[in-house]
Amino acid sequence: MARITHGIACSHIPVLGFAFDNHKEEEPYFKPAFEGFDWTRRFMDEEKPDVIVLVYNDHASNFDMKVIPTFAIGCADQYGICDEGYGPRPVPPVEGHADLAWHIAQSLILDEFDMTIFNEMDVDHGLTVPLSMMYGHVDKWPVKVIPLAVNVVTYPPPSGNRCWLLGEAIARAVASFPEDLKVQVWGTGGMSHQLQGPRAGLINREWDNMFLDKLIGDTQDLRWIPHIEYLRETGSEGIEMVMWLIMRGALGKSTRALHRHYHVPVSNTALGHLVLEPVDPTVPPSPTFTREAADRAPIA
Ligand code: DHB
Ligand code: FE
Repeated sequence: MARITHGIACSHIPVLGFAFDNHKEEEPYFKPAFEGFDWTRRFMDEEKPDVIVLVYNDHASNFDMKVIPTFAIGCADQYGICDEGYGPRPVPPVEGHADLAWHIAQSLILDEFDMTIFNEMDVDHGLTVPLSMMYGHVDKWPVKVIPLAVNVVTYPPPSGNRCWLLGEAIARAVASFPEDLKVQVWGTGGMSHQLQGPRAGLINREWDNMFLDKLIGDTQDLRWIPHIEYLRETGSEGIEMVMWLIMRGALGKSTRALHRHYHVPVSNTALGHLVLEPVDPTVPPSPTFTREAADRAPIA
């Protein structure tokens, strides 16, 4: 049986991809940002997960105003590296796990999450920067990746609660896959940042740390944070943090933190990183949806 062993949260700041590709990790500006991943690279080397369900967002590299899926899952064997305007990052292509991805897609859709399925896509910094932070310089990624893209670019993004519920549904999907696989779920993006407008450069250390605190343990407070609070407290791009709640939902009732890193500033953004493990890896039950509840539901 496949099982979710850990959850990882990580910002995906493009300038860290640039610094990494140009071997600038030791430069004074970048060193404190990269140092916070030393522990995790050693951990990944020992842990050796088979597959990562990598929750990220596409930054209008593929999905633009023409098509905006709220949740999309990649079911391909391989993903290329996106050219985001300055050439593709010089990192290896990303290998998928088509069998598990199709299984998760089927399980989620039958569990009433209307996923978009994509079979051909180049992935952008939202996915490749976290991979570089966690694995360092490699000729081939030592893991298979199932990209799960979330719309956090164009209003309205999904609610935090919907993301949490999707995470729980991913846990059910993984648990029903017969092959013995170690699966991690990653939530990427954030933390506080606003890239444009009068509040560009906004960083909220206190709020970010509250968010990190509440990903640990058994509180469910984060799933009820409304969009307007992310916008007000963490800037226009802070909403990327709802993706972390998919990872949190997938870990079940309670979590334990193995590693935590927070550093500001990197570019315009607060860098956050957390490695979590489920305390009690039981699979969350399906929310009960009865015929009686359906009959009571208002008809528009
Ligand atoms: C920056 C951060 C992001 O999350 C992003 O997608 C693009 C840019 C930044 O800090 O520069
Ligand atoms: Fe982003």
